[in-house]
Amino acid sequence: MSKKFQHKTVLLDEAVDCLVADSNGHYIDGTFGRGGHSRLILSQLDNEGQLTGIDKDPVAVSVAQELEQEDGRFRICHGSFAQIKEFAGGEKVDGILLDLGVSSPQLDDAGRGFSFQNDGPLDMRMDTSRGMSAADWLAVASEDEITDVIKRFGEEKFGRRMAKGILEAREQAPITRTAQLAKIIADANPVWPKKIHPATKAFQGIRIFINSELDDLERLMEDSLELLKPGGRLVIISFHSLEDRMVKRFIRRHEKGDDVPSWVPLTEEQLNRRLKSVGKARKAGPEEVDGNPRARSAVMRVAERLA
Ligand SMILES: C[S@@+](CC[C@H](N)C(=O)[O-])C[C@H]1O[C@@H](n2cnc3c(N)ncnc32)[C@H](O)[C@@H]1O
Repeated sequence: MSKKFQHKTVLLDEAVDCLVADSNGHYIDGTFGRGGHSRLILSQLDNEGQLTGIDKDPVAVSVAQELEQEDGRFRICHGSFAQIKEFAGGEKVDGILLDLGVSSPQLDDAGRGFSFQNDGPLDMRMDTSRGMSAADWLAVASEDEITDVIKRFGEEKFGRRMAKGILEAREQAPITRTAQLAKIIADANPVWPKKIHPATKAFQGIRIFINSELDDLERLMEDSLELLKPGGRLVIISFHSLEDRMVKRFIRRHEKGDDVPSWVPLTEEQLNRRLKSVGKARKAGPEEVDGNPRARSAVMRVAERLA
C-alpha cells in the first residue's frame, strides 16, 4: 500500500465488533477506503466467510485489488454502495458497514481537489472515472442552484452571498482551483468563524452534491432492508449532522413499523417492524480523538434486521 497518503480508521474495533456475528457469514464493507475495517473483518472470518468491498474511488479500489490477490475471501467492486444489490448478486448478507464521507488520502492529496487548505484542481469527485467535477458544475450552475447546494448540504446561511460571489468571479475567469474557490467564498462570508475556515461549510455542501452522497445513503439504507438476513446488522458511521439525522430517522421509522393510527388493532407481525436499534449512538473516546482529530465528529449507529 502506498505510504504517501494514509488513513486512520475511525471506531475500528467498535464497528467490527457490532458487525460480525457469524465467522462464516458474508459481509459488505461499502466504503473500503484503505481497508482498515475490511482487514479487521477478515481477521474475524473463517475459511467460509466472505467480504465484499465497495468504493467509488479508483485509488481505493487499486489498494483493495492488492488485498483481493492476497485473500480469496475478499473481492472488491468499483462503484457506489447505492449499487449494493447488484454487487451482492442476489444474495442476502449478514452485515453491512458504512464509514461515510471522504478518506484522509482524498483530503490530503491536493490533486483530488477536496481541500481548501492545499491548492489543487477543483475536482472533488470520489469517482474520478465518471461524473462532473466541481469546476465543471460551478461553470454552468445557476445562482439558485449554487445557493441551494451550499445552504442545503453545507448548512451555510450565507449561501446566497457565496453563490453571487461565484457568479461574479466566473465572469472574470473560470474557477478551476480549490484555493481560488476558497478565496471567493471567504470574501463573500461576512462572518469569519473563529475556529473553522470560512469556506468549510460551502466546500462540504459542494462535495456532498458532486458525489450525490445523501441520495446514495438513502438508497443503501432502503436496499439494506431487502439484503440483510434476519439478525444481520447495518453499522453506519457518519461525520456530519445531515447524514446522522438521516440514519437516525431511518432506523426509528423501521423500528416503529408501518404508520397506522393507534386505534387500529394490529398484531406485532402486522406492524411490520423491520429493524431494531442496537445500543445508543456511539462516539469515539478522548484517546482516539487525541490521536485522530477526524474521529471527533464521528457518530456510529447500529441496527439489526428483524425476521
Ligand atoms: C472514510 S473513508 C473509509 C475508510 C475505511 N473504513 C478505512 O478504514 O480505510 C470513506 C471511503 O468511502 C468511499 N465512499 C464514499 N461514498 C461512497 C459511495 N457512495 N459508494 C462507494 N464508496 C464511497 C470514499 O471514496 C472513501 O474511500
